[in-house]
Amino acid sequence: MAATCVIGLQWGDEAKGKIVDLLTNRNEIVVRYQGGANAGHTVVFGGEKFKLSLIPSGIFRSEVQSVIAGGVVLNPESILQEIEGLTSRGVEIGKNLMISNRAHVIFPWHLEEDRLMNDMGVTSEAIGTTMRGIGPCYRDKLGRSMAIRLGDLYRSDFAEKVAKIAAAKNQYLPGMASEKLKGTVKTMVADEIVEKYLGFAERLRPYVADTTSFLLDAVDANKNILLEGAQGALLDIDHGTFPYVTSSNSSGVGVSAGSGIPATYMKRMIGIIKAYTTRVGGGPFPTEQENDLGQKLRDRGNEYGTVTKRPRRCGWFDAVAARYTCRLSGITELAVMLLDVLSTFDEIKICTAYELDGKRTTNFPADAEDLRRVVPVYETMPGWSEDISSLTSCSQLPENAKKYLARLSELLGRPVGIVSVGPGREQTMEVSL
Ligand code: GDP
Ligand code: IMO
Ligand code: MG
Repeated sequence: MAATCVIGLQWGDEAKGKIVDLLTNRNEIVVRYQGGANAGHTVVFGGEKFKLSLIPSGIFRSEVQSVIAGGVVLNPESILQEIEGLTSRGVEIGKNLMISNRAHVIFPWHLEEDRLMNDMGVTSEAIGTTMRGIGPCYRDKLGRSMAIRLGDLYRSDFAEKVAKIAAAKNQYLPGMASEKLKGTVKTMVADEIVEKYLGFAERLRPYVADTTSFLLDAVDANKNILLEGAQGALLDIDHGTFPYVTSSNSSGVGVSAGSGIPATYMKRMIGIIKAYTTRVGGGPFPTEQENDLGQKLRDRGNEYGTVTKRPRRCGWFDAVAARYTCRLSGITELAVMLLDVLSTFDEIKICTAYELDGKRTTNFPADAEDLRRVVPVYETMPGWSEDISSLTSCSQLPENAKKYLARLSELLGRPVGIVSVGPGREQTMEVSL
């Protein structure tokens, strides 16, 4: 009895949602604990496709308690839309969903600030955020004086708080606009915001709870808990490719802080990797293939953003980066996803080292500008032509696919526990470790 964590080891979209859905029925509780509606997790079963943003990907098993913990930044309008969208498709959502009263709330000023900052930062290229107000909300959380948590919506001083913050934001937002955006800055009207958010608060009331004490009780009762990471470890605010990251700890180091579950309760840390690499938004990506190979990966993997529909940047598997995030996140086993996408490539490359200033290294640089300058050192492996998407056991895989998996495992120093060969629940192979 312990916790299992599902952590993306690349730049997000590793197919975490699919693995969480798959493992939910072995757990009593499933928890989303960081990030917000920047996440887009896909679950496919029974011929239906569901896209989840804030709600845990375990929601389809109504006997399992789904929890949105305090480390999440919550846009109340987004979650209400998500609940409506799911219930209209027959998904049961009631007492089985719990949302932390500690979650920080995204307000219209956060969305506006995200839009304005896209042109205003000091980064050498735009971060290319999802524009969901994530960074600005986490900034206010850390700054404390202009932050509102979900529980605050039910307190008598809520309107007063909004009025103070809206007045301050109306002073500050116009100063953040670039020449291009001057004159487009929205004014924050406190009364309208209060009315709208009080409406959201009423509709969310049945779900709001102290999830920290709920989860601590669950730990005392030795329950099986599944924790669903959002984004990927290379987007971690402290350990990722800063500043081209998200604003939360999306690697394994963030699980305890976001959920309130002590680190000693975590037992299985499953590192989710795509069999290649993708990235959405700006920032260095050493193994990116801006050529026909990259386009082939995009086409075969249908690599378009779940949230923003942006084409994802595609490239070969980067074992230097993934080995780093594996170690950082305390990964105990790997789930290799989208292996089917690599069928029909004559050759498959893996980046096993970087050359930086003429020196070879397997260390992942701390500085994004150094990462931008590295030259990947590749190892080439023979591909396979067979369609593997209907196979049910690893023993049926073509020899070259088996060799590829073995090499990934060797380079990352972790066993492969799960292999995925298609989006559906049934297109998954579990390897007994
Ligand atoms: P997440 O954010 O990590 O949950 O991943 P996304 O849902 O954003 O992106 C993963 C995409 O890959 C989704 O469209 C999934 O339906 C799809 N997918 C998951 N596993 C596989 C697989 O093994 N093969 C293929 N071809 N697609 C997969
Ligand atoms: P899931 O959970 C992929 C990226 C954005 C941008 C950077 C910062 O589906 O894997 P933000 O809006 O968070 O301030 O954007 O992070 N990003 C993701 N990329 N998958 C995600 O989530 C992402 N969430 C944020 O594209 O580069
Ligand atoms: Mg995604």
